[in-house]
Amino acid sequence: MTNPQSVETLSVELGERSYDIIIGSGLLDRAADYIGPVLHRPRTIIVTDENVARHQLPRLEKSLRDGSIDFETIVLPAGEATKSFLQLEKLCEQLLESRLERRDMVIAFGGGVIGDLTGFAASILRRGMDFIQIPTTLLSQVDSSVGGKTGINTAHGKNLVGSFHQPRLVLADVTTLDTLPERQVLAGYAEVVKYGLIGDRDFFSWLEQNGRDLIAGDREKQVQAIKTSCAAKARIVAEDEKETGKRALLNLGHTFGHAIEAECGYNDTIFHGEAVAIGMAMAFDLSVKMGRCPEEDAARVSTHLVSVGLPARLSGTNHPVCTVTMTADRLMEHMAQDKKVADGKLTFVLASEIGKGFLTQEVDPKLVREILELSLC
Ligand code: GLY
Repeated sequence: MTNPQSVETLSVELGERSYDIIIGSGLLDRAADYIGPVLHRPRTIIVTDENVARHQLPRLEKSLRDGSIDFETIVLPAGEATKSFLQLEKLCEQLLESRLERRDMVIAFGGGVIGDLTGFAASILRRGMDFIQIPTTLLSQVDSSVGGKTGINTAHGKNLVGSFHQPRLVLADVTTLDTLPERQVLAGYAEVVKYGLIGDRDFFSWLEQNGRDLIAGDREKQVQAIKTSCAAKARIVAEDEKETGKRALLNLGHTFGHAIEAECGYNDTIFHGEAVAIGMAMAFDLSVKMGRCPEEDAARVSTHLVSVGLPARLSGTNHPVCTVTMTADRLMEHMAQDKKVADGKLTFVLASEIGKGFLTQEVDPKLVREILELSLC
């Protein structure tokens, strides 16, 4: 067990918009110590959801009270449906009603839905307000809270309306993972694996040894994995904030994954991280099929995913997604509508080995279909 006071600090280097990511155990209980110094005046608004409000909100509120920081709290419904125009409008109106000033700070306290929605509201309110991310899921701690992607979903797909708006601070407290269902932790773990696969072979080997422990709640290993993941993301975002190149590597498994999610209707049949896990296995299989990656690396990826309890295929596992009827045709249709299509071509993230991701538009759709069919049978 780690010393509960141990804290890791990383920086996302973006000139005057640079910010810290603070990772540790028990940070919520002393959140005011970190938040206070970035506030213009001792007043803030917390935006959260019903689940986080039930399990974690009293800790954050107590810390703010003890730190003499005045606050209001807005509690939204939990779930992906909250990332909508309707909730965006309601949230903006509520934030304005609370007489926030332009230089005040909004706190996004929750998982990816709350972070994306609140960050987007902050980016458009009064032509841009500051916000802090306090991510409470593994997925948001290693991915969505860092890098400034914000937005909502529309009938045309996920995250199609949004902005790049960097937070002023990210506070990731691993104790918030204690109240998450294991399936949620696992789904976040898929994004942790992603960092090993795209750029850090040693980290992937470390995960093969330690992944199960961190999923089971080992705080020291959780902090270590979140730190390594966020450091990788911070480097990529500093180099390519608006995703004109390298940042797209972070989409490993996402093109396949989004097609699977779209086919399932973006509900709990499959979580984003689970779809990404299957998508990453497919990306490695496709890389092998194209003669770009050793077969044993693709096998290692699938073996690890399955060994921790994530799905690596659309069928042949006992995962709930297997009960949904899918066809390669339908998945190909969804992929054609991916927002990463440029000049009619999809950009794929593939790998030449574990730890070496690369981007390409030169992928034969016949091979993509074969990979989908293999995963389905
Ligand atoms: N989640 C991918 C990115 O932030 O670019």
